[in-house]
This record gives sequence, structure tokens and C-alpha cells, in this order.
Amino acid sequence: MSFYQSQFTLCQSPTILAIESSCDDTSAAVLHGQRLLSNVIASQEVHRRYGGVVPELASRAHQQNIVPVVDQAVKQAGIRLDDINAVAFTHGPGLLGSLLVGVSFAKSLAQALAVPVIDVNHLQAHVLSHFIKDADDSLTPQFPFMCLLVSGGHTQILLLENHFSYKVIGQTIDDAAGEAIDKAAKIMDLGYPGGPVIDSLAQQGDASAFAFATPHIPEFDYSFSGIKTSFLYFLRDKLKESPDFIETHKSDLCASIQHTIVEFLVGKLEKAAIKYRVNQIAIAGGVSANSLLRKRVIEIGERHHWSAFVPPKRFCTDNAAMVGIAGYFKYMNGDFADISLPPYAR
Ligand code: KG4
Ligand code: ZN
Repeated sequence: MSFYQSQFTLCQSPTILAIESSCDDTSAAVLHGQRLLSNVIASQEVHRRYGGVVPELASRAHQQNIVPVVDQAVKQAGIRLDDINAVAFTHGPGLLGSLLVGVSFAKSLAQALAVPVIDVNHLQAHVLSHFIKDADDSLTPQFPFMCLLVSGGHTQILLLENHFSYKVIGQTIDDAAGEAIDKAAKIMDLGYPGGPVIDSLAQQGDASAFAFATPHIPEFDYSFSGIKTSFLYFLRDKLKESPDFIETHKSDLCASIQHTIVEFLVGKLEKAAIKYRVNQIAIAGGVSANSLLRKRVIEIGERHHWSAFVPPKRFCTDNAAMVGIAGYFKYMNGDFADISLPPYAR
């Protein structure tokens, strides 16, 4: 333990202010122990017209949002700044310019309040979102459990041994699932981010209307770039025959591509849980907001008599509440960051 770490006395039920700024959402949350008091998210609309996140614009928008978002989180939590026992922040991975805003703000505030800072890994935060205690006190997973982490940047199957120790059982060898979904949406000109749009259009569509092959990747790894390309080529051929093919088949296309990706995801999660003999499965990350994925994970759990954990939708996409809960577990271990710690992109 460094001098910086040892100068703080731990309290049993800390009030933690958490900040998330890894991509295009500026978020701040306050937790008291594991209990969530507030979780404010400012999503950056500026990227929509570009069809994806523009890093330079993201960091500027974080810069504009960070003070009002933190202020609102503190007010909604009903606390004063001097009630804060530690400031947790997303350390990486993410866009460097975006991370810098959150990290610099967190450190400055912590210095001013003379409290420790806690660095949080964004991916661990997604997984630990299952442990946030919110109004509806739902059950939390017991270790070990198998978690499918699916976001715009990552697709991994993790075997969680405790809050901070896990094995990577499988992962994508190219694109992330969220990236493939967003690209499919872009091909159909559905806007950015495409995941929620595909999810909602798919509700009226027929998932068996079109078949897209999934690649044979060994064990528990994934690959999504081939699915994306076969979707693109399929549409290119169809558009030659009928220029308004996308418009007239939008819901069926969304339902079919969503079905392909979700079945690929859950098929490997199920096999991994069987192989490693765990009876608890979970999902986390932005794509875990997907209605079909949520339904299928619960169905698989019921079929095997396993417990299946699906986070509330507000904790699936990027948010500071998940950074706060990860910060809480690190705080209880006295695991603080050095004030000079820089963010990391990858
Ligand atoms: O975790 P997240 O907010 O950011 C990253 O860390 O990447 O995940 C964002 C991803 C995007 O690809 C977005 O399209 C996807 O999550 N997503 C969804 C849904 N909501 C968000 N994908 C499918 N269905 C949804 N309902
Ligand atoms: Zn994320």
C-alpha cells in the first residue's frame, strides 16, 4: 500500500461518487454502500448525424456535460459534496479523449475533497452491474457464474470466480456483436446506434424470413465479421432485383439478423456453462438490453434449472452506477488508485 493509499481511513458503508466517460455517454452516479442513490446519464446526440461516435466531438461533449451531470447526480442523491468518501472513475478501455475528461474531473474533485480515487475497468463494471442494489431488491449471482459480456466493443464469455477474478472462456476474434448489429442497421439506413432500432423493428418481423449463416469457430470463441458481410451481400443482390427491398422487408430483415446473432451468442454461453458445470448464467453490456437476448437467456436458464441473471435495462448500456459498484468492492479492499494514474485506451 502506497503512502497515498494508506492515508485514508475506510468507512464501512462508503458514499461513492462514480464517473463514466469512456465513449459517448457522460454519466455520474452516487452509491451508499451497494445501494444506488442516483444515476444520471447524458447521451450525446451529436454523433447521430455521423452514423457513429466521432472521438473529437465526444470529448468536447463530455467537457460540456461533466459538471452539470455530476451536480445533478449529487442533488438527486440528496447528499452534500463533503459526504463523499471516494471518487470512482472509468480508467479504460475507451476513447482516450473521452476518458481524459472523466479521469481529470474525478481526480480534481477527489483532491479538493481530500478523498481517495478508485480506478475501474469498464468491462468489469459492466459485469458487476449485477450487484447494484436498487429499489427492487433482486437476487444477485453467486460465484462462480458464467457471464456473456456483449457491448459495442466487446464480446466475451467470462467465468467469474469472485468480484475481481475471472477466466476468459471465449471471445470474438474480430468484430463485437454490438458492432455487427450497428453495421447491419447502418446498411439498412436505420441510424446510430442501431441496436435499439433493430430490437424494436424486429418485434413485428418474422425471424425465419431470411437465413444468415454463422461461422464455425472452435470452442467458445465468436466471429461476427462474416455475418455482417453475408448480410451486406444478400442485400446488395436483393436490391438489384428490387430497389425498395429494404423498405418493404425491414422488420423481417431486423428479426432475422437479430435472431442469427442472438442464437450464436446464447448457443456458446449455454455450452460453456455445461462444460464448466456452473448453474448460473448472466449477461451484461449494451447488447444485453436486447429483448430477444434477454428472453433467450431466461429460457435457457429455465430449461436447465439454472439461475439466469439479466440486468435491468438502465444498467446495460454505459452508466456510472456500474462504475460505482465496482468502485465499492475496490474500496472495501482498500484498493485505491494513485492520483497520477493516466487513463488507457485499450
Ligand atoms: O455497453 P455499451 O453501451 O457501450 C460499449 O461499451 O460498447 O454498448 C453499446 C452497444 C451498441 O452496439 C448498441 O447498438 C447496443 O449496445 N445496444 C443494443 C440494444 N441497446 C444497445 N443492441 C441490441 N439491442 C438493444 N436493445
Ligand atoms: Zn460499455
